[in-house]
Amino acid sequence: MRIGVFDSGVGGLTVLRAIREKYKDADLYYLGDTARVPYGTRSKETVIRYSLECAEFLMSKEVDLLVIACNTASSYATEKLMEELPVPVVGVVEPGVKTALERTRGRVGVIGTRATINSGTYQNYLKQHGVSVISKPCPLFVPLVEEGITEGPVAEIIVEDCLKEFKDKEVDTLILGCTHYPLLKKVISSYLKGIAVIDSSEAVAKEILPFVKDGGEGRTYLNFTDDSQNLPNMIEKIFGRRVSYSVVSEVPKS
Ligand code: DGL
Repeated sequence: MRIGVFDSGVGGLTVLRAIREKYKDADLYYLGDTARVPYGTRSKETVIRYSLECAEFLMSKEVDLLVIACNTASSYATEKLMEELPVPVVGVVEPGVKTALERTRGRVGVIGTRATINSGTYQNYLKQHGVSVISKPCPLFVPLVEEGITEGPVAEIIVEDCLKEFKDKEVDTLILGCTHYPLLKKVISSYLKGIAVIDSSEAVAKEILPFVKDGGEGRTYLNFTDDSQNLPNMIEKIFGRRVSYSVVSEVPKS
């Protein structure tokens, strides 16, 4: 069993980690499009094109299943990838929504990149289930996480500033609609005490269960489209240890 997972950068490694923990034997192929991150500031057409190119790379590894571990790509490109690919495709939006619906008493908050929030994908799914939704883009969270600032006073001030309206609006559940945000979960949960904070990574790992077959050697292959000084530190932060990776040239850089 080979599972392909892609994200615009390193955030999707939180999803990869959850999949690794649940399916010990599967061989996992990850692609982080670090040459073109962020996706969250780009148009729908561009996000779809980038997603197709990432999927093509992973299909060349003969994956049996594709996980879109990026909320922006899931919001804009899931349908297109489902149409184009010969394997099952699972995005992060639906699993996150399902978990939120299990937890909420009726008022859900959603945060994500500008593209994810503007796409309205989360809001539409939630509203279909009769839940009231308050959404907000939090564009400062991605660069904060990319800089490795996931706790301490700077993270606390930015989290407080971005999320203060969720305190007043009696939201009972907050969806972290961006794969970078789980790295700020401690700070977010401590600021929004009493609000259930949903990180979709475990929900995604559960969602793919029907597609996972036996077989594989439990290998993990990390690929990125560009290198950076920060990359090894981010990988270590997520996996708790250094993991080697390859920089690939098959995916276009623009
Ligand atoms: N991975 C993106 C997401 O989950 C966040 C980073 C970006 O803007 O590309 O939406």
